[in-house]
Amino acid sequence: MAERLRNRVAAVIGAGSIGSGPSNGSAVATTFAREGAKVLCVDISEAAAGRTVAEIEAAGGTASAFAADVADTTQIDAAIAACMDRYGRIDVLHYNVGIEAFGELTQVTDESWDRVFDINLKGAMAAGRAAVPHMIAQGGGSIINVSSIASLRWSAMQFLSYNVSKAALNRMTKVVARQYAPHQVRCNVILPGLINSPHAAALFDTEEERDEAMKARDARCPMGRQGTPEDIAMAALFLASDESRYITGLEMVVDGGVTL
Ligand SMILES: NC(=O)c1ccc[n+]([C@@H]2O[C@H](COP(=O)([O-])OP(=O)(O)OC[C@H]3O[C@@H](n4cnc5c(N)ncnc54)[C@H](O)[C@@H]3O)[C@@H](O)[C@H]2O)c1
Repeated sequence: MAERLRNRVAAVIGAGSIGSGPSNGSAVATTFAREGAKVLCVDISEAAAGRTVAEIEAAGGTASAFAADVADTTQIDAAIAACMDRYGRIDVLHYNVGIEAFGELTQVTDESWDRVFDINLKGAMAAGRAAVPHMIAQGGGSIINVSSIASLRWSAMQFLSYNVSKAALNRMTKVVARQYAPHQVRCNVILPGLINSPHAAALFDTEEERDEAMKARDARCPMGRQGTPEDIAMAALFLASDESRYITGLEMVVDGGVTL
């Protein structure tokens, strides 16, 4: 079967994992590479990005690491410039980085609100801003943002800034999609549900708490299990490939039916 991203170049922002297993970001990077894309793996942790690159290379793919903190938009500009320098184009921009800060309305601080918005929203804006001119010059491209089902509805976790920043990301996706549709630059957003990843596990302090929470999360899913990073990667692959060439502005919920 033909590789679905043959001759494509993808920049995955947040392509490492904060734990030992695959993350949503690393699963996307390895999946894109398996389907033929050259992948720039951008991460605040050069070591984490390097582990994803090593996995891709071990499987015969092409990738390289770039260290950048998305809280600093000049570092995002440098990452997109590195993608152009190393590979000569950018067909897919996958913005995966997202952080939570605890706090409902009366608890949230100005500092934590700003940090969450800088990373979850401003970073996505800056990455798109840097990539779009190249995509227009090339005759098209695919931008994929990563949001959450917490952007749509009440979530028991008290993460006001996270939920609101992700809702804004959904809206930005649609505005960007409409703006650049005439240039064949598509922009879609994935809304993961409960995903069993090191990122989710890190939300709980002790092993006992984590085991209990993971069982409860499985039970909340109509399919009887949480999603996996690979489930997110398959959705991203569809949005990156030409199979979705007439799809733009989509809020793609990947949650096994949790929000139904
Ligand atoms: N796991 C879930 O249940 C779930 C549910 C809904 C949405 N999501 C979304 O999925 C995304 C993250 O998933 P993941 O599994 O890849 O998580 P992850 O925490 O493993 O993050 C992936 C990589 O992002 C990097 N990163 C963190 N801060 C960074 C920064 N400032 N600059 C550059 N890189 C940075 C980390 O070093 C890590 O290697 C987020 O957008 C999150 O909101 C996850």
